[in-house]
Amino acid sequence: MDKTLNGIKVAVGVTGCIAAYKAVEVVSRLKKKGADVRVVMTKSAREFVGPLTFGTISKNKVICDMFELPDYSEVEHISMASWADVFLVCPATANIIGKVASGIADDFLSTTIMAAKVPVIFAAAMNNNMYDNPIVRENIAKLKKYGYCFIDPDEGSLACGTVGKGRLADYDKITDVVEYHAYKNKDLLGKKVLVTAGPTAEKIDPVRFISNHSSGKMGYAAAKAAKLRGAQVTLISGPVNIKPFTDIDVIYVNSAQEMYDAVTASSDDADIIIKAAAVADYKPLNIAEHKIKKTGDMSIALTRNPDILNELGKKKQNQILVGFCMETKDLIANAEKKLKSKNLDFIVANDLSREGAGFKTDTNIVTIIDKKGQKTSIDMMSKEDIAHIILDKCVQM
Ligand code: PMT
Repeated sequence: MDKTLNGIKVAVGVTGCIAAYKAVEVVSRLKKKGADVRVVMTKSAREFVGPLTFGTISKNKVICDMFELPDYSEVEHISMASWADVFLVCPATANIIGKVASGIADDFLSTTIMAAKVPVIFAAAMNNNMYDNPIVRENIAKLKKYGYCFIDPDEGSLACGTVGKGRLADYDKITDVVEYHAYKNKDLLGKKVLVTAGPTAEKIDPVRFISNHSSGKMGYAAAKAAKLRGAQVTLISGPVNIKPFTDIDVIYVNSAQEMYDAVTASSDDADIIIKAAAVADYKPLNIAEHKIKKTGDMSIALTRNPDILNELGKKKQNQILVGFCMETKDLIANAEKKLKSKNLDFIVANDLSREGAGFKTDTNIVTIIDKKGQKTSIDMMSKEDIAHIILDKCVQM
């Protein structure tokens, strides 16, 4: 698992709901991502899960009681509120939401939330009728108005036997939202970023296609980095096996033509376009209607696909256009040629022949070349760190 929450302090408030057992997994995932986690449990939460479980997973003392023997050097609920970088209430019941919305601070958790100056996230979970109750709706709306963040529950079958909206949201969504709020640099707030990722697949017949080895990791990392920095992100993705970061608009495509159509439909609005996708330059001239049968040797006639980046370069006005270049030889010369011919602001060149660079790896080794001719070589680092360097350059520009 990635260590994207390294050094981040997360206070987790657990309230009384059957989903309290899921909070154990949430704490475990936050820990695996590198966060320092301290758990506060309400009295009702302890009816569902024991503090020992949270203490063992978080490796920190679990706070249960407002009046348990304090450390007199600090007022514990105030110090907890100022210790945390992010406060997650998970699961958040109608009761805790109602208490905070009404300004009630009568136990350790509600007093700490009240004293918190950091982002407070409520991951709501309750019976669907409770969630629909106008009082709960009003309390949520009030808290949102004051800047509290909510993770809506999912739809599905609930422990009480009903089906509806009330299940705790999925684990990835919860940890993504924590990561979003923990990431302080929001220099892309108000900006629209369009990213392409993954390979394209060009049909030969109903069972076969031409494609390449792109996993989508580089493009998905760029989309995530832009989201963390506050941008509104659209990700146009070829067929890959990665879950996108939360709250990114994803448009899935297969062929280069579909990617071209999706990109041209959303590109006019974008402030920054990052083309990390590995687009097939050629596609079969004809797609066979039925599975092609074995005969002797055969050849497939190919025809050119549209060059999406080239088209974007032609109509670019006030956008920052970033291309990638993937080569197995003459990397820099080819990258410089593409930078000019496609009218890019800069190009990110990766050499597929180097270990730790290119397809499928979690890392990359790149040289960034900008339109003024400035070259920056970047040693091997995670695709996410490289994505942030690319965005830093966009922000500078
Ligand atoms: O997905 P991963 O496994 O993480 O791998 C990452 C990567 C190696 C795929 C990525 O870092 C990368 O290099 N992407 C670009 C691959 C590519 O198509 O390179 P190219 O040199 O063939 O194309 C140059 C640029 O033109 C690229 O930005 C490409 O998106 C774009 N292009 C190419 C052909 C085409 N028909 N339309 C395009 O828009």
